[in-house]
Amino acid sequence: MQHTDIKCVLEEAQYLGKEVTICGWVRTSRESKTMAFAELNDGTSLTHIQIVIDRAQIEYPATALRLGTALKVVGDVVEARQGSVEINVKNIEILGECPLEYPLQKKRHTLEFLRTMPHLRVRTNTFNAVFRVRSVMAGAIHNYFQSRNYTYVNPPLITGSDCEGAGEMFKVTTIGYSTEYKNEDEYYADDFFGKKAGLSVSAQLEGEVAAMAFGKIYTFGPSFRAENSNTPRHVAEFWHVEPEVAFADLFDIIGIAEDMIKTVIKEVMDKCPAELAFFDKHFENGLIEKLQGIIENDFEILEYTKAIELLKESGKDFVYPVEWGSDLQTEHERYITEEVFKKPVFVINYPKDIKSFYMKQNPDGKTVAATDLLVPGVGEIIGCSEREADLQKLLEAMRVRGMNEEDYTDYLDLRRFGSVPHSGFGLGFERILMYVTGISNIRDVILYPRTVGSIR
Ligand code: 4AD
Repeated sequence: MQHTDIKCVLEEAQYLGKEVTICGWVRTSRESKTMAFAELNDGTSLTHIQIVIDRAQIEYPATALRLGTALKVVGDVVEARQGSVEINVKNIEILGECPLEYPLQKKRHTLEFLRTMPHLRVRTNTFNAVFRVRSVMAGAIHNYFQSRNYTYVNPPLITGSDCEGAGEMFKVTTIGYSTEYKNEDEYYADDFFGKKAGLSVSAQLEGEVAAMAFGKIYTFGPSFRAENSNTPRHVAEFWHVEPEVAFADLFDIIGIAEDMIKTVIKEVMDKCPAELAFFDKHFENGLIEKLQGIIENDFEILEYTKAIELLKESGKDFVYPVEWGSDLQTEHERYITEEVFKKPVFVINYPKDIKSFYMKQNPDGKTVAATDLLVPGVGEIIGCSEREADLQKLLEAMRVRGMNEEDYTDYLDLRRFGSVPHSGFGLGFERILMYVTGISNIRDVILYPRTVGSIR
């Protein structure tokens, strides 16, 4: 269907004074005796375009200007108030009727209400802005790595090895309920792959395989976690950006993560000014200033041991006790980023017992070369580490955790054949979207959120 994007009509001077055909959905309308006005949106821009109808000249069906109706409009582009343009309608055609029971009649609905209709909420201004920022940010992430000699690899989503070892894998099976098998081993031997399989919680292990050949790689795809965390920061299916870099230690990868985040945010600021102004106005006052501050200032690097000291000295009555050796809880992360540093903080060198088997063991024998990047308002957005490149140390860490070596033979081979220092991180794409948009619930930055007890 030949037509012009509303974004182009609004932004490009070449259309002024010309006849155009546009398509879109009615977002507002009002009619008087002689004139009718409607605002159309086709999804290409946050701003709607106004169409103006001289009722003495143009005939159109009574239902044409109802909210949500899909229209095709031919008309002349003319100047409007505040330097914008509008369209003087010559012809109007209904492409899709929209009866009055269309649920999005009110101007503003709560995000909770909109969550009950994921198939319709995308038609609101908020989701128009969220999904454009999401799309631009995905492009910016690819641009960042592509322009720096990283190879984009697509790891398997169905896997036989659990990367994080936290028992959060969704099982993949084609058999299902059955009383035919005496035990798990028999069941899986008869299953599709002949062994236990699950949905990947992280592409890291396969990413390391690729990095040992291509040097610098990144993946960008979904990860799945069957964790029973019903919080505003967890979904069971999230998008995961995972670079893996050979010949890089913990501080090299921290530098890469910080540079990537700043570069990506800058690109979003350049390409989505209207969307960010919308979020600044409606969701987080001062958002644009915050983002500018992120680009201009260094992130903090803080030893885990020092973080524990700060928490103990805080005089705060935390719900979860603060002890060296225990993981930082949301309340602790918030205190450190929001009250102490007021900016992103890399907490480094965590106790080895609370972290994964693959992390490089530090000479102190107690900690690993790992870091989490914590940001105000959201908490952890990156999990990162230098990987243990020494075969014996890696085997020992697996033994301590009771892991089955046979499930990791490929991974262990990487330490046998030309092992090098290497590091990588996992960035939660929805988490950074929350940070950049000021949207406080992860369910509102993904098309169809999957959470405990809820799928649609
Ligand atoms: O810290 P995590 O578990 O690290 C890993 O999976 C590493 N293997 C990554 C790597 O080194 N390649 O997860 C990384 C990030 C978290 O910081 C968080 O942003 C996001 O993934 N994440 C989630 N996002 C939304 N919902 C969940 N349930 C998430 N779990 C992790």
